[in-house]
Amino acid sequence: MKAIVIGTGYVGLVTGACLAEVGTQVVCVDVNAEKINNLQKGILPIYEPGLEEIVTRNYNNGRLAFSTNLAEVIPGADIAFIAVGTPPGEDGSADLQYVLQVAKEIGTHMTDYLVVVTKSTVPVGTAVKVNREIKQAMLNRNALIDYDVASNPEFLKEGAAVQDFLKPDRIVVGVNTDRAKEMLERLYHPFLLNGRPIIFMDIASAEMTKYAANAMLATKISFINDIANLCELVGADVNKVRKGIGSDARIGNAFIYPGIGYGGSCFPKDVKALVQTGKEYGHGLRILEAVEAVNNDQKKVLFGKINRHFDGMLKGKTFAVWGLSFKPATDDMREASSLVLIESLLEAGANVQVFDPVAMHEAKKTLGESVKWCNDMYAAAEGADAVMLVTEWNEFRLPDWTRVKQLLKAPVVFDGRNIYDNVYLEKSGFTCYSIGVSH
Ligand code: NAD
Ligand code: UGA
Repeated sequence: MKAIVIGTGYVGLVTGACLAEVGTQVVCVDVNAEKINNLQKGILPIYEPGLEEIVTRNYNNGRLAFSTNLAEVIPGADIAFIAVGTPPGEDGSADLQYVLQVAKEIGTHMTDYLVVVTKSTVPVGTAVKVNREIKQAMLNRNALIDYDVASNPEFLKEGAAVQDFLKPDRIVVGVNTDRAKEMLERLYHPFLLNGRPIIFMDIASAEMTKYAANAMLATKISFINDIANLCELVGADVNKVRKGIGSDARIGNAFIYPGIGYGGSCFPKDVKALVQTGKEYGHGLRILEAVEAVNNDQKKVLFGKINRHFDGMLKGKTFAVWGLSFKPATDDMREASSLVLIESLLEAGANVQVFDPVAMHEAKKTLGESVKWCNDMYAAAEGADAVMLVTEWNEFRLPDWTRVKQLLKAPVVFDGRNIYDNVYLEKSGFTCYSIGVSH
């Protein structure tokens, strides 16, 4: 089977590499020539654990190729995945220009029957638009080639993308012909061993499933953050409350970790887009509007604690920030909560010293020289008035606190992810703030 994946970003590259890994012949296509040139040299555009090994192996064995030329690689393909970005437009709705551009290019260049699969996260109704673009492009060149469109939303998490793709909880496919269904069933068969399900449905339901999944997960996070903030006021400990509710199988332990708000390229934009879809249909999604509002406030919670501790006198003070990416194990800085915190600290006249294991290169594109870039967590703590844990990378989990205490001007820790043992830290002479625990 031959597949092409158009858009070689987080989703496209992981999809292409993992499909090649199980035997599919794959070409990943992108308009970004630098990205494609680098990939041909074995240089990956993103940090994603385990990905480099799979990309290199499959590139070397000839199952995975990279190209900027869709026209050249489309002949002979059975399936084309659209995996380009769907960023938020001005009103929050998903901007479909890249998806529709790719659909047009497919219609312009396809030569034989093709299943055109949208993997990008797109609102209900997009498959109809994709279909229209392909049809129009074919009409423009007087071609009449059979094809099907399908929807196959992706549920991978950054930082765990390879494992999520190879061992998915489920694969969701929206189709309206048996031919497309059989093709996708065959393509995904290797991933469905051990009883993992492929769930077929109509296309609109598949498109909606993706937004509903992300919205549900974002809701869990904003819910626990709201409860965390109340815990602080009433003298409860959200860490205990989390365990108490998570052990109820109906609630579950996943995605109820309080913190400094969800970031990343998906939850923020997908919640906005779904709210916008609701508005378009005259159906206000009140819960999701609240989810978004709570999240925007939560990104400021750590700054509020710092400001209160220092009685609003942050000017001239120096703060260490441990972790910048929106979550561990990725260099993705999109909508990272660290950016909101750092902006507030800088606005208040403070100096900021930062360290992140892999995201500093990416973060520099936004932060430039406004902060001091440090080589490790201890260098960031040197001479600082307090340290802030922002992204819970493994290497930040058990610092040498004696060393940290010596490096800091005063032993104060703001733990934005509740990973530290407050009791131990307080015993060791630190003042420690976390989320959802009254101080
Ligand atoms: P990305 O920004 O990392 O990559 C998109 C790529 O598409 C870029 O390399 C860009 O150059 C390329 N591109 C744009 N127009 C093109 C064209 N006409 N032809 C070929 N290539 C083109 O995006 P991403 O994070 O991989 O997200 C892609 C989609 O998948 C989005 O809809 C997103 O919501 C969804 N999604 C993302 C994740 C994730 O974890 N990042 C997970 C699930 C779903
Ligand atoms: C999320 C979903 O988990 C994926 O299933 C989905 O495919 C993807 O969005 C997408 O559509 O792009 P991702 O954004 O990569 O994946 O990462 P998550 O692990 O979901 O974390 C998102 C944010 O929520 C992070 O900022 C993280 O710190 C925060 N989070 C997560 C919490 O604050 N608490 C939690 O309990 C879990």
